[in-house]
Amino acid sequence: MSVYKIHGGIPLQGEVSVSGSKNAVLGILAAAMLLDGACILENVPDIADVQAMLEICETLGAIITPLGGGTYKIDPTNISTHEATHAKVKNIRASYYLLGALLSRFKKATMHMPGGCNFGTRPIDLHLKGFSKLGARGTDISDLRDGTIRIVADKLRGAHIFLDVVSVGATINIMLAATRADGLTTIENAAKEPHIVDVANFLNSMGANIKGAGTDTIRIKGVPVLPGGYSYSIIPDQIEAGTYMIAAAMTRGDVTVKNLIPKHMEPLTAKLMEMGFDIFEGDDSIRVTIEECRPIEPVNFKTMPYPGFPTDLQPQATALLCLAKGMSRMHENVWDNRFQYISELQTMGANISVIGRVALVSGPSFLHGANVVAMDLRAGAAMVLAGLVATGETIISSAYRIDRGYEHIVEKLTAMGAQIERVEEDASSCQRPLVEV
Ligand code: EPZ
Repeated sequence: MSVYKIHGGIPLQGEVSVSGSKNAVLGILAAAMLLDGACILENVPDIADVQAMLEICETLGAIITPLGGGTYKIDPTNISTHEATHAKVKNIRASYYLLGALLSRFKKATMHMPGGCNFGTRPIDLHLKGFSKLGARGTDISDLRDGTIRIVADKLRGAHIFLDVVSVGATINIMLAATRADGLTTIENAAKEPHIVDVANFLNSMGANIKGAGTDTIRIKGVPVLPGGYSYSIIPDQIEAGTYMIAAAMTRGDVTVKNLIPKHMEPLTAKLMEMGFDIFEGDDSIRVTIEECRPIEPVNFKTMPYPGFPTDLQPQATALLCLAKGMSRMHENVWDNRFQYISELQTMGANISVIGRVALVSGPSFLHGANVVAMDLRAGAAMVLAGLVATGETIISSAYRIDRGYEHIVEKLTAMGAQIERVEEDASSCQRPLVEV
């Protein structure tokens, strides 16, 4: 079992470069399965979720050729099955994008229910409703007993679809299913995250006709052929960038986070400035530092769909709030149970109470090292950040969860002065019984 071991108390210095966006590339890999020709993807992060998605695409018959340096040739022309039933489908959430892609390509799709981080119910009703509006029929949301989704359509026709809830996954999945449908599809109340824009831009570069991505109304005019044949570079990962900005803030260091899109970071940048941090924006970088001895001010966060504060930075920002002088609130508005990691921060000395969807954080807490668990991907990142400031040693188990979304995290943090290593340990060697969740 792999763990991360961190000795805290070192202010991070220098710079770190952000990798390609996990949540963009996973949608784009599914979108590539729609093409009638090969394409080249650049700036693909070397993370576990991407490796899983590449494996799943290969089991469908796609030919994936690594070209080195995060560049891959993706050739879907020999895909021979509409069934995505590889075991890895259950390991990641984004495998469900293959529903829209395979439905679009074959007018039918079968796959296991997806996996992903466990923070409450993660329904797919909006995805299935969208497919049904386009003319598909099959698994009813109430009929997922055997854990397999089966959908089929004689024909996919453009439709007007209103999403009851702003959903990243449903927006991308319906966009994929509509890309080759007959006629115009309109998605109202669409999610506007940067990764949705990236998936739409990728598809358009390969011959699709999608307008309005990044707004709450997306129009997709179906095309009969998607020739592909081009290269596309994945946008920088907004959440990885935010994680390192918060790492710099928590350790009271002086770090320039490079290869990011400042506009994507505005929800976090604004809050860091409110907390007293000095922020210097470049064309594709943000420097985070703070005056010596200046206290970190308490603030209130509310997670919202983009351009609001991203829920995927919620655990990391909550760890930062532990260091603020006074009472802060973290209001989680997207997921119904995304505070499971709080118990791990409390083990390290944090003073936090959770009431429903609000975490009340009283600080500053002087965090100390402990044996903790990465409860999910972003909770795991929060534990790394807490370990960077805690006195003594922090051991984070279930390290594989962090590997799902952070490329070369040990190398990147070590380069900024952190004392972090990844080691193989058996469960018996940690004082606190490791709880597998
Ligand atoms: C994506 O998950 C991300 N995952 C998540 O990031 C992120 O937390 C989430 O979007 C919100 O930004 C990927 O992109 C792979 P949603 P997704 O559909 O698509 C409700 C990470 O850390 N909903 O936008 O599953 C749902 O319950 C991961 O990288 C329905 O009601 O999220 C939630 O309340 C963790 N019915 C809200 O919408 C549906 O059919 C937003 O969910 C679908 C969703």
